[in-house]
Amino acid sequence: MSNGNTLRHLAIIMDGNGRWAKAKGLRRTKGHEKGAEVIRDITRFCADHDEIESVTFYAFSTENWKRPQSEVNFLMRLLERYLKNETSTYMEHGIRFLAIGDTSAFSPALRERIRQTEEMTKENTRLTQILALNYGGRAEIVHAVNRLINEGSPVNEENLSSALQTPYSDIDLLIRTSGEERISNFLLWQISYAELYFTPTYWPDFTPGELNTIIDIYKKRIRRFGGI
Ligand code: IPE
Ligand code: IPE
Ligand code: MG
Repeated sequence: MSNGNTLRHLAIIMDGNGRWAKAKGLRRTKGHEKGAEVIRDITRFCADHDEIESVTFYAFSTENWKRPQSEVNFLMRLLERYLKNETSTYMEHGIRFLAIGDTSAFSPALRERIRQTEEMTKENTRLTQILALNYGGRAEIVHAVNRLINEGSPVNEENLSSALQTPYSDIDLLIRTSGEERISNFLLWQISYAELYFTPTYWPDFTPGELNTIIDIYKKRIRRFGGI
């Protein structure tokens, strides 16, 4: 397992919850519910993995507000429930939780739950689970540039990388489920040299076994970083 490329930061665009549900004749919300269980399973797998230090999941984009109000409300409640129910997973598996994105748009109760979970898990070191919530890659970059300008710091690659909200900024492997092959405004800066993997599996059907297979493929890829 230690051969091949190292895998420290994994990022996942979880897509296909709605189509998964539709294919089963269920409401879209059922797909989101099952999807939340998969986040838990994949996070546990990552915590047990020797190399993975952080896993970043795209849970809600700045564009997802365009969905029907009822679906947005459901997703907000699901997130609150997820964080509440996962307390034991975070603590038993040594997982630190962090949110990235503009959570100021969320309800006070949800913001408080996010803050409490970050606070409670801040000493955990096995894995950092990052949830991208009301996240947009362009917004993150603009915010970071403005921060540097306001501080009077030079805008260069090193300063910009550290001004971003996302810790450990470089992504090694980015996976998107559901067969769509696009980035949808996720981690634009951090994926500059990421290996990309697209699987047709809908997110609710994604398993630690499939992740393991993808990691094996990733390990064998040649990452040149511009060299030969
Ligand atoms: C991903 O599944 C979950 C979120 C974006 C919140 P979708 O809800 O986008 O599922 P599809 O793409 O409609 O199947
Ligand atoms: C990307 O999925 C956002 C998340 C996974 C949170 P979408 O389903 O919203 O992306 P598009 O609209 O198909 O690009
Ligand atoms: Mg989608």
